[in-house]
Amino acid sequence: MTTAIIGTGGIGSAIARQLASGGETLRLSSADQASARRLAAQIGDAAVVAAGNRDALQGADAVILALRFTALKGVIDEIAGPLAGRLVVVPSNPVGLDAHGNLVRLLPDGQSSGEVVAGWLPAGARLAMAFGSMSADLFESAGHRSPEPAVLFYATDDDRAGQEVGRLIRTAGFEPVKAGGLGQSGRLEVGGDLHDLVVGPAKARSLTGGA
Ligand SMILES: NC(=O)c1ccc[n+]([C@@H]2O[C@H](COP(=O)([O-])OP(=O)(O)OC[C@H]3O[C@@H](n4cnc5c(N)ncnc54)[C@H](OP(=O)(O)O)[C@@H]3O)[C@@H](O)[C@H]2O)c1
Repeated sequence: MTTAIIGTGGIGSAIARQLASGGETLRLSSADQASARRLAAQIGDAAVVAAGNRDALQGADAVILALRFTALKGVIDEIAGPLAGRLVVVPSNPVGLDAHGNLVRLLPDGQSSGEVVAGWLPAGARLAMAFGSMSADLFESAGHRSPEPAVLFYATDDDRAGQEVGRLIRTAGFEPVKAGGLGQSGRLEVGGDLHDLVVGPAKARSLTGGA
């Protein structure tokens, strides 16, 4: 199947490599198209560079918005029409740097990034928050682990999105486990109790209570 990845920086590149290694076809787009071209050349035949963000969605079953949180709304507005009826996967953590270079959360305590992003999407888009629960290096080293796969947590309010993102997570070499609905997405992000956790399915289910 085909997935569009918009944003080919640190996490977008890692997700692209992991998905391609599992047999997914990719359509890549980034503000810096040179970075998308370099990544496509590294991946080979499984990846093509789209002419732009909207073009990336042509023929794609799903789209991953591998963007900084502050860039998300602008890109969603740019590609809103084609998002309806598609799985939209968001790995973004709602964090940025303050004037002193310290990492700060961009949303008030207790406000879920998943619910905020859901409010930006058009009706009919199926949102899953996923692929942002590990740093890029850890994500790449934990994929395709054997004999027991590592878990990648996701959060969604939509059962079909859960099935679809589960397929992508397996393609990337992990076992999917739902952490909860979009209101629980804070558990996946930097500072959340499930962030940067490499565990197997049994431990993951004990942490999520079989959500
Ligand atoms: N890196 C990690 O280890 C990691 C792990 C988990 C989660 N995350 C989260 O994932 C998000 C992205 O992080 P990152 O480290 O990958 O950031 P990044 O390296 O800055 O990559 C962001 C990418 O988005 C592109 N972009 C910006 N505006 C765009 C637009 N309008 N249209 C298309 N592409 C655009 C950037 O292109 P330009 O370079 O040309 O601006 C860049 O390729 C963040 O929220 C972060 O918290 C990151």
